[in-house]
Amino acid sequence: MDPDPSPRFADLVAVVTGAASGIGRATASRLAAEGAFVVAADIDPAIDDVVAEIVDTGGVAVAVRSDVSVRSGAEAPIDTALDRFGRVDVLCNIAGILAASHSHEVPDEQWERVIAVNLTGVFHTTRRALPALVESRGNIVMAASTSALSGHPWMLAYSASKGGVLAMTRTLAMEYARRGVRVNAVAPGGITTPMVGGLELPDDVDVSLFERISPLDEFRGPDTVAAAITFLAAPEAAHINGEVLRVDGGTLA
Ligand SMILES: NC(=O)c1ccc[n+]([C@@H]2O[C@H](COP(=O)([O-])OP(=O)(O)OC[C@H]3O[C@@H](n4cnc5c(N)ncnc54)[C@H](O)[C@@H]3O)[C@@H](O)[C@H]2O)c1
Repeated sequence: MDPDPSPRFADLVAVVTGAASGIGRATASRLAAEGAFVVAADIDPAIDDVVAEIVDTGGVAVAVRSDVSVRSGAEAPIDTALDRFGRVDVLCNIAGILAASHSHEVPDEQWERVIAVNLTGVFHTTRRALPALVESRGNIVMAASTSALSGHPWMLAYSASKGGVLAMTRTLAMEYARRGVRVNAVAPGGITTPMVGGLELPDDVDVSLFERISPLDEFRGPDTVAAAITFLAAPEAAHINGEVLRVDGGTLA
């Protein structure tokens, strides 16, 4: 980690959910490299390794192992930030899961799990964070998805959850702007992470409905999304609120 002479997040406290892998991991590492004190949360025990790596490279980070689909687990990262650092300046709601089915066959358990993690989890973490964010005049960045902006076949629960996240983003942005809190979202297209690598589409689907061509294929790694998230979270984005920033190589341009 190269020390930045004027780190954008110096002395700021950032909470990142889903920080054990992919976009959340890249975001936590980048925030720490830019001076933030990071609370890195995930259900996956690998969160301890991510935090060890940040600390080894000179950053400040604390690991929280918790499940955002349970209210207490969604609130735990915020409580840890307040206990350890006394404030929250940035909340990145990144934890999420993906599942695919024919829409007429979505199992109840799939619908309930995806909504519990991707939507209700974001609600619980955000509700807990808002009083602290009002105090710090902080901000939130949500991980939405291009599935909230365009049709993504076989992803009914996932698309509904991300549409909900985008609606929450805009509602919160309006409601808290005058109290100094900004709320924005990124909408990644297909990014190369374990989530996408592990996706199982149903048999007998017409994949051409799902595969859109990204003109910038070589930039599909999680770091490009982390760059967008940290831009939205940084003080330089002070007049950007209620925005959704696509990171999809122009797929939906
Ligand atoms: N990869 C993509 O193409 C893409 C596209 C659009 C949006 N997104 C969104 O970006 C976010 C990150 O996705 P990613 O691609 O980095 O996936 P990923 O699978 O690499 O990372 C997701 C992380 O969330 C964690 N997580 C899952 N369930 C959890 C729970 N109940 N409690 C706490 N943590 C939990 C996982 O353990 C994992 O570390 C997700 O919200 C995803 O929906 C990803």
